[in-house]
Amino acid sequence: MCGIVGAVTNGAAGAGPADAVVDGLARLEYRGYDSAGIAAVSGGDVVVRKRAGKLRGLLDELERNPLPDARAAIGHTRWATHGGPTDENAHPHLSGDGRLALIHNGIIENFHSLRNELVADGATFASETDTEVVAHLLGRAYGGDLTAAMLEVTKRLEGAFTLLAVHAEHPGTIVAARRNSPLVIGLGDGANYLGSDVAAFVAQTKSALEVDQDQVVTITGDSVAVVDADGRPVENRAFTVEWDAEAAVKGGFDSFMDKEIHDQPQAVADTLRGRTDELGRLQLDELRIDETILRSIDKIIVVACGTAAYAGHVAKYAIEHWCRIPVEVELAHEFRYRDPVVNEKTLVVAISQSGETMDTIMAVRHAREQGSKVLAVVNTHGSTIARESDAVLYTHAGPEVAVASTKAFLAQITATYLLGLYLAQLRGNKYIDEVADYLAELGRIPAKVTEVLERQDHVRDVARSMKDTTSVLFLGRHVGFPVALEGALKLKELAYIHAEGFAAGELKHGPIALIEDGQPVFVVVPTPRRPTLHAKVISNIQEIRARGARTLVIAEDGDTDVEPFADVVFRYPETPTLMTPLVSVVPLQIFACELAKAKGYDVDQPRNLAKSVTVE
Ligand code: M6R
Repeated sequence: MCGIVGAVTNGAAGAGPADAVVDGLARLEYRGYDSAGIAAVSGGDVVVRKRAGKLRGLLDELERNPLPDARAAIGHTRWATHGGPTDENAHPHLSGDGRLALIHNGIIENFHSLRNELVADGATFASETDTEVVAHLLGRAYGGDLTAAMLEVTKRLEGAFTLLAVHAEHPGTIVAARRNSPLVIGLGDGANYLGSDVAAFVAQTKSALEVDQDQVVTITGDSVAVVDADGRPVENRAFTVEWDAEAAVKGGFDSFMDKEIHDQPQAVADTLRGRTDELGRLQLDELRIDETILRSIDKIIVVACGTAAYAGHVAKYAIEHWCRIPVEVELAHEFRYRDPVVNEKTLVVAISQSGETMDTIMAVRHAREQGSKVLAVVNTHGSTIARESDAVLYTHAGPEVAVASTKAFLAQITATYLLGLYLAQLRGNKYIDEVADYLAELGRIPAKVTEVLERQDHVRDVARSMKDTTSVLFLGRHVGFPVALEGALKLKELAYIHAEGFAAGELKHGPIALIEDGQPVFVVVPTPRRPTLHAKVISNIQEIRARGARTLVIAEDGDTDVEPFADVVFRYPETPTLMTPLVSVVPLQIFACELAKAKGYDVDQPRNLAKSVTVE
């Protein structure tokens, strides 16, 4: 929710900071696309260009009205919270004297009272945003030292914020602050950067610094200074950005979503890579949680949202089966409000692509306060969840730009399976050779996903033929159930179609009443090598077919039992039960993507959504 980028150079030759900021905005647009804006300091003034709508609008404006040369620039891409998506509400916002420009990600919860106080003192506002209040406060607090002003003003703010400010009197400086919203620093040569995540500056540098809670950062082209809320200097952890700038471009595909669906074999392979020793034993050195603690846990709770929660839901089946530890899956936003039973014997696993989902961050904090160890399964280095957890198991999906999650889902399932197998190995639930067999199966998944991708034309044709459909249901059993939920979520968020996923066994407890003539129903069928499970799902298909449903069946190669009852069959290669979500979900992703495109929608930036939900 809102992307933030800043760049400052020491004035030596090279690309200007505005170019770096525009590049960063293009890479961060997934965080919000209600408006985009940029401010640069030049010739003793702050110059602002901003436009409602997608980044394209700002780029057109910059062509008509280029920015002057500058050493410091800040840019923002917005997901509207306070005030509609208008030019006026677009960031940057200016202080009362117009000498300071500010961008913000987050929500200032006490902005009403601050605004009333400012209005009573004669301030006038150009926007409806909470952000402009901070711009005014900073302008008033400024007495020559922008860092001091930031330290003073942030003490008065409640809520979540990443703030970046430039001032006309400091042409080569950006000052930033963060609380409960993301910020990372990029370290360049004669230039430094700030961003909501490393994608903001990945084209400029791979060298980065984390920023902790309530810190204030001052960067110039040659220096980076970080202080805590009391102004005391602090040393932050440096890290190397592993993502490639090229990984975050479409690379010949129509959309990022298409590309990311095709990245999936690689995402699984990369997440598996380097996690076994020379004897084939699983090694997760990065876990950093004492083995005695991991042996003593008696419960696992997965906290996550959206697609990440469905990955957790899949993992529950595998981890319970392999480790005999009870696993609960909890939507992160429900977790801390229901007084969950967690203690030092509970391992909380937080799954998040971005590592910045506020609901999941709050769940992590709550779990740690209760004495639980928290293990993060995260895709983004330097992110808040990665930093605040006791241990991190990184997924290596590379940057995921499309708002709808695809490759992160597969990488999350893969990483949580590694965790399950590791715990099974550590706790003696599985012999090393059994773990090795499962790892070998996981190792075969990239090739199987590739096979499913090679059959995508069939899925695409069916999707296009269904572009006028208004409702689709999804059924699955066992690990097929979360796959059904994920299929429905993809269709809702991309094609804006009513879509619901159900556990197939639940059908006769109510949902079957929805079935009428022609109602499309996807059914995720388990492998026939689990005959009991398989037979139950075949019965479910017959039940809905008998009531007029149009059945679209996802079934394993060679499963002829489905044929008499299926209007359409999408096939996946022979795969052991627990591994099937990694292949059976792929046709559902392609279906949703293609149907949305057939309806003329932007699959990378669906309406009302942002990639990272950084406010509660
Ligand atoms: O970054 P996270 O994995 O924490 O994000 C969680 C959800 O917001 C995310 O998976 C969302 O549901 C996707 N748009 C689904 O495609």
